[in-house]
Amino acid sequence: MTALPPDPALPSAAAEAHAPEGDTLPSSDNAAGNAAVPPRFDPWSAAFVRDPYPAYDALREAGRAHFFAPSNQWLIPHYDDVSALLRDRRLGRTYLHRFTHEEFGRQAPPPEHEPFTTLNGEGMLDLEDPRHARIRRLVAKAFTPRMVEELVPTVRRLAAELIGGLYADGGGDLLARVAEPLPVAVIAEMLGIPPADRGLLRPWSAAITGMFELNPSPETARRAVRAGEEFSAYLRELIAARRRDPGTDLISALIAAHDDGDVLSEQEMVSTVVLLLNAGHEATVNTTVLGWLALFHHPDQLRAVRERPELLRDAVEEMLRYDTPLQLFERWVLDDIEVGGTVIPRGAEVALLFGSANHDPARFAEPHRFDVSRPAADNKHLTFGAGIHYCLGAPLARVELTASFGTLLRDAPGMRLVAEPEWRPGYVIRGPREMLVTW
Ligand code: HEM
Repeated sequence: MTALPPDPALPSAAAEAHAPEGDTLPSSDNAAGNAAVPPRFDPWSAAFVRDPYPAYDALREAGRAHFFAPSNQWLIPHYDDVSALLRDRRLGRTYLHRFTHEEFGRQAPPPEHEPFTTLNGEGMLDLEDPRHARIRRLVAKAFTPRMVEELVPTVRRLAAELIGGLYADGGGDLLARVAEPLPVAVIAEMLGIPPADRGLLRPWSAAITGMFELNPSPETARRAVRAGEEFSAYLRELIAARRRDPGTDLISALIAAHDDGDVLSEQEMVSTVVLLLNAGHEATVNTTVLGWLALFHHPDQLRAVRERPELLRDAVEEMLRYDTPLQLFERWVLDDIEVGGTVIPRGAEVALLFGSANHDPARFAEPHRFDVSRPAADNKHLTFGAGIHYCLGAPLARVELTASFGTLLRDAPGMRLVAEPEWRPGYVIRGPREMLVTW
């Protein structure tokens, strides 16, 4: 068994100096372009963000847990480990249900990060049981499979309208014209946000989710705080209006949701709505454009799914696996764990590498092959997570992706890529900046 890793509270340079031999990262550079040198895990490099998979191969070959000093985290690249740790209650998205910041050896978020801290911290995604279970149960009473089912015609109509507009113009930016507006419109419709206010949602969401990248800058934090403040104030007014005059929307259903006399507090409702908006569209946008990019880069697969629409279900799962839109999720280690002979102590943080897990040859045959006929039933990718935080919106995401891919494949049979897209710099929430298409 390897010796104990560095004190996670140490600054990263000191931590690196203590990192146990054999657990540090392959140390060459991606940009060197030398095939003999293993590519490096470097989330701040554009080349890595575009194609992290060769670096993941090197990480998996080098071991099961790697200390990464720049973010002071343990990288976990193997499918079985990522899957097991997502379900392991010795880890958590927060530690505050068991320890104070001081007890855990971490600093409280700076007071100037309010109201972002509360907004984020009161949503189910950043809570652990029992509060997580309580809120998820109440939200699930409002956000039901039936509600998703009833949304299907709306999703199809919105997809057809957006795609029709792009088609009428002979092409344009698929991201700005379809991939982005569709999930935002669906969530806005589901929540009952008045049409005149919908333009506010995307900028708020983009500003807030900037905080989920590794080591966000002070400016990113300021923007997130401002957006959190504005969005919360907006939602408090909307919730008050729905209390006075309930409708058939999800906000009214959240107000009405009861569990044994228990209801959501106003802050829990605000945090839930913000979470549904953020969780509910960033990944769907990126899955859409990354999926199309994979299809454009594999013309035989594009032809197959165009000629055989019955492959759509398998193809959507393969797109979710092949180029994973959310690459990394973090967990705090609440009690010592051991991964591949390395003890990771309480107080450390692990970074679960979803993209790497989804390309692990121990789980997927020929993982780097994009195969739209890989049977969905056997395509157990981790893109929607696992365990208690498993994506609550996965059924809705699948409905949206099926509607938008299905409509585009059917109604725009000659659609092709105009130019290789530029990428945004983000690694955790990852994808192109635009996608110009024509036909
Ligand atoms: C392709 C699209 C999507 C992907 C890849 C995705 C992925 C994920 C992942 C990986 C998690 C778990 C994170 C963790 O364990 O740390 C998660 C949680 C969640 N997602 Fe999604 N998601 C997508 C779409 C949606 C949609 C459309 C909604 C709702 C409108 C949604 C709502 C949620 C919520 C509420 C949670 C928190 C669940 C909990 O903590 O119990 N997601 N999502």
